[in-house]
Amino acid sequence: MRYDSITEAIGNTPLVRIDPAVHGLRNIDLYAKLEMLNPFGSVKDRPAWHMARPHLEDATDSGGTVVELSSGNTAKALALLAGMHGVRFKSVTNRMRVPEIKELLLLIGAEIEELPGRSECLDPTDTDDPLTHFHRALSDPGSTYLHTDQYFNPRNVESHVGSTGPEIVKDLDGRAPDWFIACVGTAGSSTGVAKVLREHDSRVHVLGLVAHKSDFIPGIRTIDEVQQVGLFDPATYDTIESVTSDEAIDGMITLIRRCGLLSGPTGGAAYQGAVRQLRFADDELEGTGQRGTAVFIVCDRAESYLSYVRQRRPELLGRTVRGRSAAAVTDAEARAEAQVIGVDEARRWSAEGDPRPLVVDLRSPHAYAALHIEGSVNIVDEVFDDLLRGGLPFSKRTPVLLACPVGEKSLRYAAALTRMGHPDVRSLVGGIVAWRDAGAPLVRE
Ligand SMILES: Cc1ncc(COP(=O)(O)O)c(C=O)c1O
Repeated sequence: MRYDSITEAIGNTPLVRIDPAVHGLRNIDLYAKLEMLNPFGSVKDRPAWHMARPHLEDATDSGGTVVELSSGNTAKALALLAGMHGVRFKSVTNRMRVPEIKELLLLIGAEIEELPGRSECLDPTDTDDPLTHFHRALSDPGSTYLHTDQYFNPRNVESHVGSTGPEIVKDLDGRAPDWFIACVGTAGSSTGVAKVLREHDSRVHVLGLVAHKSDFIPGIRTIDEVQQVGLFDPATYDTIESVTSDEAIDGMITLIRRCGLLSGPTGGAAYQGAVRQLRFADDELEGTGQRGTAVFIVCDRAESYLSYVRQRRPELLGRTVRGRSAAAVTDAEARAEAQVIGVDEARRWSAEGDPRPLVVDLRSPHAYAALHIEGSVNIVDEVFDDLLRGGLPFSKRTPVLLACPVGEKSLRYAAALTRMGHPDVRSLVGGIVAWRDAGAPLVRE
């Protein structure tokens, strides 16, 4: 195989059968489409190249900057493509939650602009989401940004219509599979592949997978978040189901340890979601003499997610856990176990308590710098979680008031600290937003 450019190596990824002894389905052949074998490491190499190509030709002449709202694989592919063409790339994103990916982007030469999310944006004169500002800046006359716009750009879907979908059909000897299973981020891959498969056989069943509500699986959206995606059309999917981060990691471990596939969490989520759904179909096929075929996508590789796994399942990385991780506390457990405190009482407690509580603000440094409770310390929630896994980070004699944007994260951390034996830790109900809305004082750095 000889190429003039690495971009020629994008696509034509293998379709590999999963050993039935692993998934246990008796009447269905399950195949993994190994998108992590694309040269930049993920399914996003295809749309990144297809979307950026027209921009890159212009940008090389005009000195513009390619820009995308991405904290992951699209940014990685675009940054590499921009570098090859002598063009700058800027990734604009809410806080980057996976440190390895952030460092890799910096290594590649990307500029990163992290914006606070709407719930963290507390300036009362500013009612817009920071991303709205960003969109406005892009359309300013004279802007030199070249926006690939992955959440709305039809070329994202087209890239899969032109390559991923046809490759699957070709590798199945000209047939569409009976089931197609994909995780939904921008919806580009699932929409494009589903279109091609349905053109071959309208009976194909398409299962879209999203992250469980208030859970986090890097690269895909929750059912609420997916509604904001321009390319998302519910009619693409026969079924949409959610997967928890625990299930995603279980699936990832099965693919890695049993199948030799170095999958990341969304490949694991797709595998786990596929097997869960296909068990019913498998039972129905039993005794009919018919066989079914299913295909799921392995979007990217495991290496970038070691800190994600360490945070949720430290035992998988050989770590003994002295403390607790808030990620291990479910919503129901958090509600049952955490002590909470309303704004009025919290104000009295922090002003007059004996001893006064240590106020820990779990938001991003950006949001903290904009406005915070006087005297509070800022420990970003991921860092706080790391601290907790090492053991109790405060004396049990120091009462603690935890504050986050809206009081959801702080509830989990309050429950985790209580489990660790801290006698007086409370979560601020409604978070810093409720504190501000009640007119309680906030200071700016
Ligand atoms: C790791 C990972 N998995 C799955 C997806 C979903 O792909 P799509 O954007 O085509 O829906 C993405 C998208 O960014 C991703 O980064």
